[in-house]
Amino acid sequence: MILDGKALAALEREKIKAKAAELGIKPGLTVILVGEDPGSVSYVSSKEKVGAELGFASRAIRMPETASEAEVLKLIAELNRDPSVHGILVQLPLPAHIDENRVIFAIDPSKDVDCFHPYNFGCLLAGNQIVEPCTPKGVMRILDHYNIDLKGKRAVVVGRSNIVGKPVAVLLLQRHATVTIAHSRTVDLPAVCREADILVAAIGKPNMIGADYVKDGAVVIDVGTNRVDDASRPKGYYLTGDVDFQTVEHKASAITPSPGGVGPMTIAMLMSNTLELALLAREKKV
Ligand code: GUN
Repeated sequence: MILDGKALAALEREKIKAKAAELGIKPGLTVILVGEDPGSVSYVSSKEKVGAELGFASRAIRMPETASEAEVLKLIAELNRDPSVHGILVQLPLPAHIDENRVIFAIDPSKDVDCFHPYNFGCLLAGNQIVEPCTPKGVMRILDHYNIDLKGKRAVVVGRSNIVGKPVAVLLLQRHATVTIAHSRTVDLPAVCREADILVAAIGKPNMIGADYVKDGAVVIDVGTNRVDDASRPKGYYLTGDVDFQTVEHKASAITPSPGGVGPMTIAMLMSNTLELALLAREKKV
């Protein structure tokens, strides 16, 4: 079975749009992009576009690669004070001269639409999160939509990033899966992955997870969206996941394609989080 994240994301966007209209709320999302990393440029345009489609006050602020950390912090301080902004997202990675932790720390936790601030990350770990990180939330929505049972199941997450690996492991644990976080230093990674009833690949290595990593009948979630240079393609590159879809498709009972799986869900969940933060901000004011 193909887990169609693209179609599910379209459904989710419709629901979010309808809910915002019903509640008479105009969620405000500001995305900050520093520099011109090609992947980030494209993600930020998509975020801007989807926000506009849903009727949000969504905008992207683009800063040059040479912007200083102080300039970024100043902008965040202004956005923190602006009541029309409910969600602030600083696109990662940042240029090397800017301290990512300091930037994330500067975002008002009540506007931290990514759930990256240590306060929110801590709440997530303790099980009382306000919002959930967008990609992990998208993964969980896909599993829920397709009624994939998690309770007591073996879940293996490959990748330990703060953006995906760690938080998706926490969410799976909250849903009573038995969770292993594996990574590049894991001894006999294929064998560890073969124990998984649910395998989440979030490594950032094109097509790394082959059939030898997958147990028969496992559910495979491919979080990777890798750009591979290929001069023969119209854009000079193509996108592919961390999972070798062609070979794994036959072994897995269910699998997300990439592109067209988790990626579109991430953006839909960003909008869902923005709406939630806008609602919370309104409740606090009345
Ligand atoms: N870079 C890659 N994924 C993400 C994300 O979910 N949020 C932010 N802020 N940056 C990212």
